[in-house]
Amino acid sequence: MKKIKVLVIFGTRPEAVKMAPIVKALKKNPDAFVSKICVTAQHRYMLDQVLRIFDIQPDYDLNIFEDGQTLTQITCRALMGLEEVIEDFKPDLVLVQGDTTTVFSGALAAFYHQVKIGHVEAGLRSGNLYSPYPEEVNRILTGVLADFHFAPTQTSKNNLLREGYDESKIFITGNTSIDALKWVIDENYIFEDEAINKIDFKNKKVILLTAHRRENIGRPMENIFSALKDIVEENRDVEVIYPMHLNPKVREIAHKVFKSMERVHLIEPLDYLPFTNLMNKCYLVVTDSGGVQEEAPSLGKPVLVVRRETERPEGIEAGTARLVGTDRANICKELNILLHDQEEYKKMANSVNPYGDGRAAEYIIQAIKDNF
Ligand code: UD1
Ligand code: UDP
Repeated sequence: MKKIKVLVIFGTRPEAVKMAPIVKALKKNPDAFVSKICVTAQHRYMLDQVLRIFDIQPDYDLNIFEDGQTLTQITCRALMGLEEVIEDFKPDLVLVQGDTTTVFSGALAAFYHQVKIGHVEAGLRSGNLYSPYPEEVNRILTGVLADFHFAPTQTSKNNLLREGYDESKIFITGNTSIDALKWVIDENYIFEDEAINKIDFKNKKVILLTAHRRENIGRPMENIFSALKDIVEENRDVEVIYPMHLNPKVREIAHKVFKSMERVHLIEPLDYLPFTNLMNKCYLVVTDSGGVQEEAPSLGKPVLVVRRETERPEGIEAGTARLVGTDRANICKELNILLHDQEEYKKMANSVNPYGDGRAAEYIIQAIKDNF
């Protein structure tokens, strides 16, 4: 059998986490695949953190990262670089994952060279083109170009069917984030960062916060942080840990709202290993992240999703996540319920796994073998 030449393209932290299981699975099948990895490096530091943890060495590194790039600049620089890579490697199939600008650029570059496209984590929809922005549109446009749609759940498959996609091209696989998570959680994990090690996870209620979405930057993010500030001031047993995204606009708001509150730990982005193990030890999670919404339910951690819409309804349907918007008073209300009503807390703190059995990469590889 002729080997399939696969080019795996990614550029940001979450894509790297979710592509890592696929990169490994491709390498485990050398009889069927010749694979190469191209990173756009839309993120630099946060991407390299993940590459290091999973011991992945890219074959091509476009190194497009520049501080404060606009969406147009990211798209153009990624497209130009990817053209050269595709012309050099001449893949039969390009794999992209998710909804970032790297993903859309990767799909478009492949399409321009009439190379087949596999879209991992296909079919998620919020129904609002501006939320998440620009991710909802990136994901829709990538779907239009894709030949294989790897949908994590039945819900995402249904979205694709509703839009008229051919059922024989859609494969329900689960989400590869759960594959990755299975490798790293350790109940006896010890943090390198002494500040985190010193936190009394047994007697304190530790809230893990992440926030970075473009549509939240400005007033919504100020509201989210202010709600957490109120909660910390009202509850002596609450500590907040916020590994801040590197976007300077996000960090400016965090520093403005939290100033130097003793029980609010503003720290640098954590490596994937300490981050996921911190999630495993915390009391609850407040986030606007996509990936974190998938990981927390599988660790049995209640999640308050501080967004107006989510393209990931599965955690909410399973009862571990709640969509609470960005209104300060409402976030406080929801946090108070989880901090003080143990029945409500227990109802949400159930370990469920709407995103598959942790073998998504294996299913994706098999689907490619069977259908290419
Ligand atoms: C991007 C993705 C978003 C994804 C997020 C994951 C797009 C449009 N957005 O958003 O879908 O949820 O990544 O984190 O593709 N920065 C650094 N170093 C880094 C990374 C970022 O300094 O390693 C700073 C830079 O100032 C950069 C800014 O963060 O300009 C924003 O980065 P960018 O990739 O444009 O968007 P994100 O908000 O990270
Ligand atoms: N993550 C990490 N370190 C951090 C914060 C998040 O390793 O300090 C991981 C997290 O476990 C998840 C991914 O990064 O796998 C989510 O990335 P992010 O929230 O930046 O992007 P999104 O999922 O919203 O696109």
